[in-house]
Amino acid sequence: MSQLLTLSRAARLIGVPRGTLQQCVKDGRLESFDGMVSIESLRAAFPESQFEEDPVFERIAKIKEEAFGKRVRERVLPDREVLSARLYEQSRELADFRLHLERYHAIIVDTIEKLKALPSRPEIDDLAKWLDHELEEALVTESPDELDALEGYLRIVSAHVTLRPSGREYFAEGNDTLLEAALRAGLALNYGCSSGNCGLCKARVVSGETKRVRHHDYVFSETEKSMGYILTCSHAAVTDVVIEALEANRPEDIPVQEIETKVRAVETLGNVTRLMLQTPRTSRLRFLAGQSVTLGERDYPIASCPCDDRNLEFHIPLDDALAGAQRGQSLMLHGPFGNFVLREDTGRQPCFIVSGTGFAPVKSLIEHAMALDVYASIALFRIGENRYLSNLCRAWEDALDNFSYVELSDLARLPDISDRDVYVSGPEDFLENASVLLREKGVPESRIFIP
Ligand code: FES
Repeated sequence: MSQLLTLSRAARLIGVPRGTLQQCVKDGRLESFDGMVSIESLRAAFPESQFEEDPVFERIAKIKEEAFGKRVRERVLPDREVLSARLYEQSRELADFRLHLERYHAIIVDTIEKLKALPSRPEIDDLAKWLDHELEEALVTESPDELDALEGYLRIVSAHVTLRPSGREYFAEGNDTLLEAALRAGLALNYGCSSGNCGLCKARVVSGETKRVRHHDYVFSETEKSMGYILTCSHAAVTDVVIEALEANRPEDIPVQEIETKVRAVETLGNVTRLMLQTPRTSRLRFLAGQSVTLGERDYPIASCPCDDRNLEFHIPLDDALAGAQRGQSLMLHGPFGNFVLREDTGRQPCFIVSGTGFAPVKSLIEHAMALDVYASIALFRIGENRYLSNLCRAWEDALDNFSYVELSDLARLPDISDRDVYVSGPEDFLENASVLLREKGVPESRIFIP
């Protein structure tokens, strides 16, 4: 049997969400062994996947970055020291395989000799001939398996991180610190300053090797050092690692913050102003997708993903005073707050129903759901006329197999979504109408979430 992979590694290898693989295992379409899958069974379940040019995972990663409105960066390689440590690890594994292979080969050759030395009997002669033939066949050089090669490449450019005690997993790429990579993957690790001062991102390395890639002023005690503590905002993974770290699982786990931000950009999108704020480098906003903050006198939902905690996006109605904000202006931000966050533990697929600027928190939730990569299907319905950023929604639909986008003139046209978790966002009267209609359509109240 070929090597076994975790579901997240396998999903990344063939460019599908981890949720899709979980569903395949559940349906019996993909064989798993203790939660792991083999490359052989992966190939059997996804025979149509192409791995040679423009690997799907790279395409999806690029689209995700474009869709999230981030600067499209090249796939950054880790620094030399990290790369050479990973190459060394791969070489060691390869040497180990070779040694075993040579031993097995010698055993087979010995067995054939021993069989031939036995008194001649038809069954023994046949067995010796068969072994001879199989050995010759095995030595015929075949072109290397693309999927195996790609898996080896992935191990060099990225490291797999497992969090304890939650068991959540993610990949750290390029020069990302453990914290940056976790945020990109939609995980809410505990942190504060992001710059090595506060110590709130402290974590213990259970196994694997990490390296300090950013300076930090925080001083560890001798006991902490001996126990393997590191700062996730200053350390990167050299090899695959398991770390023990605190995570925020509920809105109550996130402290309220007061930050002076600067207006970085103002853009008009139909009858909405898109306001981009930037926090100081050392005082970023920690929040959960779907939450809001107070800017000046009013509360606004954050429209961007917590994976970019420095650049915050808001959708402001044109008749609102804040729509007149100027580039470079300072704005005090207070928050975050609100419980309109993704319920990740229900096991159901999410569906979002939106009207007008209700799209803002939903955009944050959808980007977070994409980053988490655990859903087999995400559905977005936009109701009514004010459908700014609809091109972005179409780009998501074009790029991601697990995302569907539908525009509807009114709520009554919604299809059957009674098996999903339903997140509704929009003006007060829209929320009331939607709640009534969804209950009539068989969605239990406990599965309807509103801001
Ligand atoms: S977040 Fe403050 S030291 Fe890492």
